[in-house]
Order: sequence, then structure tokens, then C-alpha cells
Amino acid sequence: MKFVSEVDLPKLLTGERHRIHLIGVAGSGMSGIAALLLELGHNVSGSDKVSTLETDRLQRLGLRFFPQHRAEDASDADLIVFSSAIKIDNPILMSARDSSKPVVRRAEALAAVMRGKRGVVIAGMHGKTTTSAMTAHVLREGGLHPSHYVGAEIPILGTNAHWDPRGEYFVAEGDESDGTLRCFHPEHCLILNIEEEHLDFYVDLVAIEKVFAQLIQQTSGTVFYNVDDANTARLCAKRRGAISFGFFEGADYRSADVELRDFASVFCVHRRGEPLGEAVLNVPGQHNVQNAVGVIALATELGIPFEKIAASLRKFEHARRRFEIKYESDRFLLVDDYAHHPTEICTTLKTARSTGRRRVLTMFQPHRYSRTKALRKEFGCAFDDADRVVVTDVYPASEAPIPGISGETIADEIATHGHRGVSYQPRLEWVHRDVGNMLDSGDLVLSLGAGNIHEQLSVLAADLVIAEKLKAIVGEEGDVRLFEPLSKHTTLRVGGPAQFWVEPRNENAFAELIRFCRRESLPLFVIGRGSNLLVRDGGIRGVVVHPCGGDFDRIEINGSEITAGVGAKLKEVAYAGKAAGLGGLEWMEGIPGAVGGGLRMNAGAMGAQTFENLVRVRYLDANGEAHTKACDELEVHYRNFPLLENNFAVSAVFRAQRTPTEEIVRKLEASQEKRRTSQPAAKSAGCIFKNPDSCPAGRLVDELGLKNSRVGKARVSEVHGNFIVNDGGATAADMLELIEKIKSVARAKRGIELETEVQIVGESA
Ligand code: EPU
Repeated sequence: MKFVSEVDLPKLLTGERHRIHLIGVAGSGMSGIAALLLELGHNVSGSDKVSTLETDRLQRLGLRFFPQHRAEDASDADLIVFSSAIKIDNPILMSARDSSKPVVRRAEALAAVMRGKRGVVIAGMHGKTTTSAMTAHVLREGGLHPSHYVGAEIPILGTNAHWDPRGEYFVAEGDESDGTLRCFHPEHCLILNIEEEHLDFYVDLVAIEKVFAQLIQQTSGTVFYNVDDANTARLCAKRRGAISFGFFEGADYRSADVELRDFASVFCVHRRGEPLGEAVLNVPGQHNVQNAVGVIALATELGIPFEKIAASLRKFEHARRRFEIKYESDRFLLVDDYAHHPTEICTTLKTARSTGRRRVLTMFQPHRYSRTKALRKEFGCAFDDADRVVVTDVYPASEAPIPGISGETIADEIATHGHRGVSYQPRLEWVHRDVGNMLDSGDLVLSLGAGNIHEQLSVLAADLVIAEKLKAIVGEEGDVRLFEPLSKHTTLRVGGPAQFWVEPRNENAFAELIRFCRRESLPLFVIGRGSNLLVRDGGIRGVVVHPCGGDFDRIEINGSEITAGVGAKLKEVAYAGKAAGLGGLEWMEGIPGAVGGGLRMNAGAMGAQTFENLVRVRYLDANGEAHTKACDELEVHYRNFPLLENNFAVSAVFRAQRTPTEEIVRKLEASQEKRRTSQPAAKSAGCIFKNPDSCPAGRLVDELGLKNSRVGKARVSEVHGNFIVNDGGATAADMLELIEKIKSVARAKRGIELETEVQIVGESA
């Protein structure tokens, strides 16, 4: 391996043409170097375990891409550039070490490329991507044809890196995370803020400041610095000719009278007490105003007139993942931000607050175990401006876990700090569910973190598109919720969430929902009172319709006929009958379900079943068309009504008989008495099994000695053998395991194949 000092790297990179190989070329920083080297005319190859849209684009520009790291693919390279994420035992790196090939780090290559131009380095802990993009944009609009290198995709700049042979300047975002800031020898630098960060690399703040001090010392022209940041001011103020910027009265370039309007900031700029004019920045947040003043200072000193600067700032759009709006509607706003340090989180949450939305809901993914451990206390205090916070587990970014440190560490700190709306969701892929279920009209949702939490926001955005269409169908009176826990809507109190929970209030809305689901190929499931339902822990994907309220809860009496909507409780039908002096429906008192479920299951009690009282049923078919069928046209079985397997009941007419009130009361009391004495009061789904011909299931389970047997918090009731009760906190998995256990004992000992009466639906967790 050759030491870099032995080669004239700036000449090699900007004055000659070579074969250069980049290890880890798909990384956001490395792909920028590859782009610059290609534009400089080099023959560039690169290797990475993953390919990205960026590597695809670079391949079209001439990059030879290798999807693995093999020494032979880089054997003809004159120079090797490697990312700091690459391990020391990488085969290409090892082979270069054995040969005489020069090997350089990413920042060394960048610093050398910059030597071919007049360098401008933007440095600081927070905001440097936006600020360097803003600088490159303003210089470009000012006609200076700058080259640039920015650590993220910047739509307004076209690419994250570009070499422009026409211009003199090179604007680069300097990365302080690994000490390589000391590689740069720029003409100017702009320093935004300095504080404790990257404590996996630095011992303390003193070590960080040392690197910044070296950068300042190596800057040949002007140091521009944020005077509002104490550490930065302390380090830069003594530098000869340094130019300060910020909100501070005494700043050389100062912003004042900042007015935040939703997503824009309007402010006045003064230079050494003299007004320069008004600027508008279409990027929200006070901190961005501060950064913009730094850019204004630099651009002004480079000779660009203020009007030109102001005009380009007005056009500026910021980087991806920097308060990036992912979804916006009248009701919701979804924003993604890269903030992963407590200071950045506070700032971004302040910006979110300033938009004036009703609530700010946050999903946060801590980045790196080392940062989580070092700054846990600061993280605990960073979320005061969020109404709700869902913290997921740590994004390791190539770090090994630290025992005792997880996302829960931060959730606990936030709670200890006194925040009442924090929860921990260790499964990243479920974060959008938790936040989705909290959503209410007027909310802003923010995803925060440097890992892959933004993907959860995108998933939520995709679901919201559908949820908003569903809401339009059910109208103001209806309700739509995302990821509604079905444990709240089943009598057994277990089950994962419904992806889209929809409550229509009338038949038209229900019919339109059926048609919509069909058009969009979305699964549709109808749930009533959930009294005969066991939903698996993964919940139900698609639309879960719960017809209730409005027309669906209506009960009307016409002579001896009672018409009831599917949302009405069977018990209420029995009592409506009693009030009108109509009997024969008293058995319905004993069924916990609604009319819809009673019909679907042909539910029964006290020797009666739904079908025996039915006159006709009104239902919607798979196309949302309404039909009415009389009872004698229908096929009905024990606990099954096939018509309603693919059609959806909306109401039913039951026949009752004029009966003396005392008789009705007596029957109702008998039903109550039967329930009280033979059935458990605990949470259950009624009878779990259909009664086999040979023997009632309850008696069978009893005789098999299985009462009180349990799995987790699921237990066979001691009162009735055909009831499984939830002792509190049972999962569907517990329930299903216990059901299987009972079935296998019944099979082994009595040769009876028990069949579940309870409907088992949904996906496993
Ligand atoms: N039995 C036992 N041990 C038990 C439970 C029951 O020996 O642990 C005996 C009873 O003594 C009785 C026979 O088994 O001789 C049947 O029991 P029960 O009268 O309680 O009726 P079931 O068939 O278990 C049915 C319905 C219930 C309804 C009751 C009362 C089915 C599957 N179940 O229960 O409906 O409430 O009659 O009318 O048809 C439901 O379907 O979810 C439900 C609760």
C-alpha cells in the first residue's frame, strides 16, 4: 500500500485521467465522489453489496458496478477510494495493502478534488446538507457555475454532486463524524454549530472542537460563523477577518423580524446595521433562517447582489428527508425529517408546532447504540413539543448492540421526563400502525431519524390515501380509522388491528364501500359486535366494515313484525318486543351479538335459532346491489346461513306473537337465569365449538377434565366447558393453542372431531 502523501492526489484526481475503484460505492457520500470522478473523465469502477437507484444512474454515466467486493475487480485500478463504513478486512482493501496501490478515504478524495477549485466547506453538526445545497443553488443562480458535493439527494440541484468546468468555486458539505474534516484546505468555510455528537468517534467536545479548529486554521480566506451558537462563536470569533451571522444584534449579517407562515419564513437582512432587504425562504423553521443568513453573508461577500440572492432563496427547495412533506390533505400532514440528535429533534418539533396543526404525532427511530447511550438524558427532554411519541428500536448503522440499550431506553427517559404520550414499539414494521391508529383530523405526523423510519411514514401515507377515499364514501356522519385494534371490538378482547376500520351509517354508504373494495381489489370483511369472533394477533388486512349507528341501529315495529338493522343488538330486539307486547324473541336476550352476526351464524339459545323467527332479510350482493329475500327462499343450517357468506345483510324482519307481558318477562328471566347459572361472566366469545351430534361440546370438555386448563391467559371456563375465557391480556395465539389442545384430547380420547363455532379470522403476528 502506498501512503497518500507519496502521491499528488489533487493532480492525480483533477489534472490526469486514471482507473479508480470505489469500495462501498452505493453509499450516499460515495456515490457523489463517483459522480465527480466520472465527470472529471476518470475510468471509474465501484463495488457494493447493494445497488441503488443512484448506482443505476451512475452506471448509465459509465460506472462499472460490481455487486460484491472482489479483489480481482479492482486489480487494474490506479487508486482505491473507500467509505468509512468499509471494514479493514475488505478483500479489495487487503489486496491494495499488499500492492503498491494508493488507498484514500472518501473525504481525502473529496478534499483533493476540491483543491482543483476554490473550495467552500459547509461544516457543523446540524443543517449542513440544507445549507450546502442552498449555497450551491445561490451561487449557481448568481452565475458562478459552482461545482458541488452534498450528502443527500437534492432535487433543486439535480444530483448530489456535480463538477462544472466553467466555474471557480466548489461547495462541499464537510462531514465531521469521523475526523476527516481536517483533510480540507478550503478558501472559505461556513460553520453552523458545534456540540457533542458522534461520541462513538470522539472522546468529548474538546476533541470535536480540535478538528474544527484545524479546519478554521486551514481555511485561506474567510470563516463565516453562526454567532448564535456559543461553541462556534467561541472558536471562530478570534479568527482574523471572520464574518459572523445569526439573530444576534451584533452579527455582521443579521436576520430580524422573522415571520413564519406555514411553510415559508419572511425576514429582513441587515449587514453591519444597514438593511440589505427582505428575503423569503420556502423552507420552514427558524434554524433555516439562521442558515440562510450565513449563505447570504457568503454570497454577498463573493459579490452576488442581494436582489439576486433573495430571488434564488425564494426558489430554493430543500433536500430529501429535511422537513420533507410526504402527504398533505385538508385533514392530515405527513412530514419526514432526518433529525436524530436531540438538538435537531427539538428544532424540527418547534418547526412542526409552528405550522399550527392541531397535534404533532411523532415516530422516532434512535440512530446508533452509542448515541442512544451517550445522549439518553438529552433525548428524554427533546420531545416536549410532540403530543404523542412512538419510539421504535435502535437503527444500528453497523454498530454492535450495547447491552441494556434499546429504543425503550429513550421511551423510558421521555416518560421519566414527564411526557404522558410516549410508547415503545420494538417492531419497526408496526410503527405506522400505532401512529395510524392515533390519527385524527388536523394532525401532523413526523417521522424522525437517520435510519429507515421514513419508510414507515411512506406506508402510512399510502394507507391514508385509501382512508381518505373511504372517508369520502361514508361522509361526515361515518367514521374511518386506521389500524383500529380489534381487541376493542370483540367480546373475547383479543386480536390485532383492522387496517381500515370503517363505520358506514346507511345502506348507500355500505353499498359504495363494497363497490370501492371490489374496484381497488381490497379485501372486505364485515364485523358486527364481534361476539363470535377470534381475530388472530396480526389483525385483518383490508377494509373491515362495522355497520352501526344511523339506519343500522334502528328497530321498528309494524304489527307483529319487528324490523331491525344489522347493527342493533339481538338483546334490544327482544326488549323492543317486550315493550310492544310481542313475545317469541326472548331467547335473543341470551345472545351477546348484533342482528348481523345473529343472521350470519344463525345464532341460537334456549332451543331456538334466528332463522325460526325470520320473515325476510335485506342484503347487499357483491356488487353492492340491494335485494330482499323471504325466509322460505333461503337455505339455512345449524350455525350457518350460506347466503351471507358472500352477501352482506343490512336489515331483517322478525316475526313475533302478541303475548302477555308477564309471560315475556318470565321467559326473559329464564334466559337470564340460564346464562347466570351456566355461563361465565368473564370475557369470552360464547361457545367455542359447535355441538357435535353425539354430545354437547360443553359437557364433552367437562367430561374430559379440561376445565380450567390454560395456555397463557386463555383458560377453559370452570363454569361451562364450551367457553374459553380471557383472564386479561390473552393473545389470539394463546386461544388458538388451547383450542387445538382441546380438539386433540377430544380426538384421542373420544374419537370426536370438534369443529369451531367461533369464526377465526385474520393473520398471525
Ligand atoms: N354441560 C356440562 N358441563 C359444562 C357445560 C354444559 O355438563 O361445562 C352440559 C349441560 O348441563 C347441558 C348440556 O351440557 O346438559 C348443554 O349445555 P347448555 O345447556 O349450556 O347448552 P350448550 O349447548 O352448551 C347452547 C348454545 C349457547 C346458548 C345455550 C343456552 C351452542 C354451541 N351453544 O349451549 O349459545 O347460550 O345453548 O341456550 O349451540 C353460543 O352459541 O355462543 C352460545 C352461547
